Amino acid sequence: MRNIGILGAMAQEIDEVKALLTEKTTVKIANREFVVGKIGNVRCVVAFSKWGKVAATITATLLIQEFAVTDLLFIGTAGALADGLKVGDIVISKRLVQHDLDARPIIPRFELPLLNRVYIDSDPDLTELAGRAVGNLIERGVEDMVGEEAVKDFNLAPKLYFGDIASGDQFINSDEKRNEILSLLPDVQCVEMEGAAVAQVCLEFGTPFTVIRTISDTADHNARIDFGKFIVEVANAYSRAIVGEIMRLV
Ligand code: ADE
Repeated sequence: MRNIGILGAMAQEIDEVKALLTEKTTVKIANREFVVGKIGNVRCVVAFSKWGKVAATITATLLIQEFAVTDLLFIGTAGALADGLKVGDIVISKRLVQHDLDARPIIPRFELPLLNRVYIDSDPDLTELAGRAVGNLIERGVEDMVGEEAVKDFNLAPKLYFGDIASGDQFINSDEKRNEILSLLPDVQCVEMEGAAVAQVCLEFGTPFTVIRTISDTADHNARIDFGKFIVEVANAYSRAIVGEIMRLV
């Protein structure tokens, strides 16, 4: 039977997802809370990943090893790098890469040591499923997800993209840094701090995964200001709606 692990990068977002669970029990391991239950008819385990690659690696490993999840979904926010991406848009991963990994001159920049690759592909079926769920929600109208006030406040008109996501242990909030990443990894759509680490865990364990990121900022000098407000008013509601819709389609 399917047992889907759901990780989120923000505690508040994950609290919203936990609210969807029925028949809940909570298990604490390594300063993390794992909430086991059901969303609709689907068995799920929901946890706050904590921030950054190491923290997310620990949480993803525990989900797989201790809770035997069959699939892993990661949901959260990201800073936009690609032209045309706007706050409120959603990016679902095709491939994940660590933009801060650099073991030159031993191996080429960005290459994962001993794995002989730069990118890790997300699972095509889960990616398609997540895309269908987000597509349905966009079709129904973003007001249904976040309310009319947030739509106006953030000028939301969400579009869905599939593409490369880059992760690193840095919150990117300068033109210099965002342009550096873009010049070296031109296909990257957005940046965040966990996805590629979770991808590596899933690759090693053979667990299908995908990453769903809502654009919260443009990873430039405005990034920090926009971020907090966006989490409270938009990201939490997006996460809840997206996870709910995915479980309806499973
Ligand atoms: N998550 C959301 N926005 C981000 C940014 N600008 N950099 C890294 N992680 C993020």
